[in-house]
Amino acid sequence: MNRNEILMIAGARPNFMKIAPIAAALLGEPSLSAQIVHTGQHYDRLMSDLFFEQLGIPEPTLRLGVGSGTHAVQTAEVMSRLEPILVDRRPALVLVVGDVNSTVAGALVASKLGIPVAHVEAGLRSFDRTMPEEINRMVTDVISDLLFVSEPSGVANLSREGVAPGKIHLVGNVMIDTLRRFKAASDELRMCERFGLTERGYALLTLHRPANVDDPSRLQTLLEPVFELSADMPVLFPVHPRTLAGLKTLGAAQRQGVRLLEPLGYLEFLGLMSSARLVLTDSGGIQEETTVLGVPCVTLRDNTERPITISQGTNRLGGTTLEGIRSAIKEALAAMPSGRIPELWDGRAAIRIVQILVRQFGH
Ligand code: UD1
Repeated sequence: MNRNEILMIAGARPNFMKIAPIAAALLGEPSLSAQIVHTGQHYDRLMSDLFFEQLGIPEPTLRLGVGSGTHAVQTAEVMSRLEPILVDRRPALVLVVGDVNSTVAGALVASKLGIPVAHVEAGLRSFDRTMPEEINRMVTDVISDLLFVSEPSGVANLSREGVAPGKIHLVGNVMIDTLRRFKAASDELRMCERFGLTERGYALLTLHRPANVDDPSRLQTLLEPVFELSADMPVLFPVHPRTLAGLKTLGAAQRQGVRLLEPLGYLEFLGLMSSARLVLTDSGGIQEETTVLGVPCVTLRDNTERPITISQGTNRLGGTTLEGIRSAIKEALAAMPSGRIPELWDGRAAIRIVQILVRQFGH
């Protein structure tokens, strides 16, 4: 058994900005050793390796190369390829982040081998079980031994679900650690100028939730108010690979004045987000990042698992109807951007996590 080895699992784009600060904090901690296993859930350079390079994440010790698949196939592939590695290495702890298929798969394998599991970003709930991520979050939390939480709603949810208080640690938001660390580097790219845009003179759109992009008629409904907005200001739209197929079916976006882009690197996207007049998104993480940047955000969903971005931050729910989104955009543009940064979103969440790990696993 590797008595002080923390084995981190990462697989999809939103995992990488979460493991980056934890890996960095672990590197400075001689009593623990850190290893990264990349499941290969995301594999395109623009969805994966670019993030390792930009964020200075150490090269993974192992790559499972699972690739794309249905939920069952992808989850099962991660599990069957990870199991022999965990049997062989017997790390002291498996650490998983977020809510993707690689997260739940890693937690399941470890817990059945009797290896303690830590879940970073635990306790978030949309209360919408049609979201694959909600299932992943619930299952991962139930089998985790250490639950690191980013906002108070997570503590309340876990307590209500009967998780022992001693397992729950409100540590803040590791993704915001990364944002704070790399903000200056992203400002230096002067993304606005690169695109011939002015500060606060454009909107930025992202869409990738299956419920929003897999059905062309839903996608069309969501894009309609965006097309209307694009008559007033340019809209930049970096397109997730999943969304590309739906857009091809629609074929209309480019003509309507929305600028389609390839997926962007972390620094490039952060630069564009920071200077935007408005961000429209169905991503979870972007709701949090815009809150910290003080940029208005309209979330193109009916719910959020990150309610603090609404109660304290700059986020508002636009829903998924034409009318709802149209009026949320109008309100967001009319209001003075206001909001405050949630407690513990201070750039030190990973340090707090590692302090707890040292106490429990350091040798
Ligand atoms: C996954 C996560 C989602 C997260 C999102 C961030 C799950 C259930 N979903 O969704 O929570 O918000 O990542 O991006 O884990 N593809 C490529 N290149 C890649 C990766 C994927 O072209 O590098 C294409 C493939 O056609 C694939 C599709 O995108 O089938 C979907 O990829 P997948 O990882 O299954 O789910 P995401 O939609 O990316």
